[in-house]
Amino acid sequence: MKIDNIDLGYRPVMLAPMEDVTDKAFRLLCRSFGASMVYSEFVSADALIRSVNRSLTKISISEEERPVAVQIYGRDVASMVEAARMVESQAHPDVIDLNFGCPVKKVAGKGAGSGMLKNVPLMLDITRAVVDAVSLPVTVKTRLGWDMENKIIVELAEQLQDCGIKALTIHGRTRSQMYTGEADWTLIGAVKNNPRMTIPIIGNGDVTTPQRAKECFDRYGVDGIMIGRASFGRPWIFREVRHFLDTGEVDTTLTTHSKLDILRDEIVKSVECSPKGELGGILHIRRHLASSPLFKGIPDFRSTRIRMLRAETKDELFDILDEIERKFLTSEEIQ
Ligand SMILES: Cc1cc2nc3c(=O)[nH]c(=O)nc-3n(C[C@H](O)[C@H](O)[C@H](O)COP(=O)(O)O)c2cc1C
Repeated sequence: MKIDNIDLGYRPVMLAPMEDVTDKAFRLLCRSFGASMVYSEFVSADALIRSVNRSLTKISISEEERPVAVQIYGRDVASMVEAARMVESQAHPDVIDLNFGCPVKKVAGKGAGSGMLKNVPLMLDITRAVVDAVSLPVTVKTRLGWDMENKIIVELAEQLQDCGIKALTIHGRTRSQMYTGEADWTLIGAVKNNPRMTIPIIGNGDVTTPQRAKECFDRYGVDGIMIGRASFGRPWIFREVRHFLDTGEVDTTLTTHSKLDILRDEIVKSVECSPKGELGGILHIRRHLASSPLFKGIPDFRSTRIRMLRAETKDELFDILDEIERKFLTSEEIQ
């Protein structure tokens, strides 16, 4: 699959953009485990234009994480164009992605993100204007539609393609679903199989296992897939999925012990990359760490999880991980 001239190989697997999750440290980690491409968390066009520090940090990328997309959101043509130009000239990502899918009230309620699904003409104006304003490839990420009665994605995909975007990511839910129910991939497949569509289609929603990843490619014919929540506390999912897609076999090379080491590394990198020092890095990482599937099935894990969620230093988190390794994991599990 190619986004413009960027060759992502056969059946690429991307790291989804996620606010407060996909900072530089996490993106680098996921790339090191084989994510084909990574996306920044979304950045407000208005905040970027005002040079809000936090937003400028969010668009900072490093060479090692390429190919990387910086994602922006906003609700009017002028600010989106100005923000896209800033991203192009200051951050130099490989791709600029436009967010027309965020369902949260503070964004969609103001007409940005998935709010654009209620104002398609404006969505198309923004897309066209951004495509014209920058020379980088522009892509879009959106949902099936606003609600069950308005699943407009098949027609919308054609309209967005006509604006000049180079790829489209579809999360198989409507805005009103937020994150509930199951992602519906049938409409993603319908977009992909529409003979009028020529740009790559990236499917997204509830890919949590290598087997499901393969099924999404096989059944719906998408060009790429994107994984979000399943990477929390499990950045190695990209290696597992890649291995299964390439060989048809389950990757069993990572032991529980090495996965714990990966989580330790994730903590160190999160702190190193945090503009707010150690506490900032810990606040960023601890929630995702606590939800790692590595700890599923450990008896009476609740109190340990709560301690993880309250930890404020690297050492506290290391102590908890050491304790888990000592107390809960049998010698076979850490072979
Ligand atoms: C914590 C969190 C933050 C998110 N932030 C963004 C974002 O900044 N931009 C975006 O396009 N989608 C965002 N999403 C949506 C994800 O990119 C993805 O579409 C969604 O989680 C479904 O994929 P999944 O089932 O693989 O998680 C976010 C999701 C979560 C859970």
